[in-house]
Amino acid sequence: MALSAMSSVASTPAMSDFSSAGTPASSSLASSISSLRDLDKALVECLIGELNLVEIRDTLISVAQAAGEMMLNADPSVDTSETKKNSSDRVTATDKAVEAMVKACLNTAYPDFEFLGEESFKVSQKLTDAPTFVCDPIDGTLNFIHGFPNTAISLALTVGRKPVVGVVFNPFRRELYTAIKGQGAYLQKPNGTVHRLPIRQNPDPLTGLNGCLVAVEWGSERSGPNWDLRTNTTRKLLSAKSVGGAMCHSIRSSGSAALDFCYVAAGQMDLFWEGGCWIWDICAGWTILEEAGGLVASANPGDWDPSLEGRLYLAVRGAPSGQKEVVEELWSCMEGKEFVFAK
Ligand code: IPD
Ligand code: CA
Repeated sequence: MALSAMSSVASTPAMSDFSSAGTPASSSLASSISSLRDLDKALVECLIGELNLVEIRDTLISVAQAAGEMMLNADPSVDTSETKKNSSDRVTATDKAVEAMVKACLNTAYPDFEFLGEESFKVSQKLTDAPTFVCDPIDGTLNFIHGFPNTAISLALTVGRKPVVGVVFNPFRRELYTAIKGQGAYLQKPNGTVHRLPIRQNPDPLTGLNGCLVAVEWGSERSGPNWDLRTNTTRKLLSAKSVGGAMCHSIRSSGSAALDFCYVAAGQMDLFWEGGCWIWDICAGWTILEEAGGLVASANPGDWDPSLEGRLYLAVRGAPSGQKEVVEELWSCMEGKEFVFAK
């Protein structure tokens, strides 16, 4: 679709609103409750009200842009990657350097907030009710290593274990996705225009998997029951109705769960189904999707209220009808099986 034909080039927030961060000031309330673990819902709402979420978003945008420069300046041919779990689970020196920079900047700006990042994560670390920055310094590390330009930094703020601000920035395509809970989701394109998401302001109803473009990722675990479920379900999604399949339009695997969430939020993909990725992969995208009218169910059947740390996500684009039906149809393609992941 031509840019001019796209609905609603948003007038606010303007590009300039996204290009400079304000001076962060940590809330005294945030500071006083940062050690609490189980907050009452009303207190969480009160805390969210105390925070300057616009200022926090602008800080995250500035940090993401600095991270983007680091990614663009990295030379993948000299940026050696190390193996994590196996040969398809990698980390580069740039992943680590970006996270160190992000952590230092956010700690200076908001010293009372907690930080949960992919590269500094320890299995004992659990999300708490306190304001927490969640960081994936490079989502799509394999794409980054191969020079495939679908790679992003993903930065979020959670409060009460729920995402309230999300910023996802792909420096290679200069696409910036942002959202604040209750204030809408936006895409800033390389030419500077800012579009409220979804791109089509009046999206079509969802009428079943048969009309859907579905994002599926493969992870790095390539054998065992989770792998069998992933591949069997994908086969069922793609197969013709005459052989018992859903005959979805097609499957796409972009290599970045953070960007998959954004593409669903934009309405460019209809669904994203993945078990096994982590909170830092999807946390920022979650707010962006919900603010664009989408919903997040579990990748496993029957759970309409998945947790951020649950590693099970089914993202559905905004639509005037058909969201729940398409979730149930996808769950039925799993033929009674479920993913099982360590948390
Ligand atoms: C990965 C990507 C990928 C998903 C993996 C993630 P990383 O993140 O989001 O799409 O399938 O599960 O681990 O390793 O590139 O940060
Ligand atoms: Ca990563």
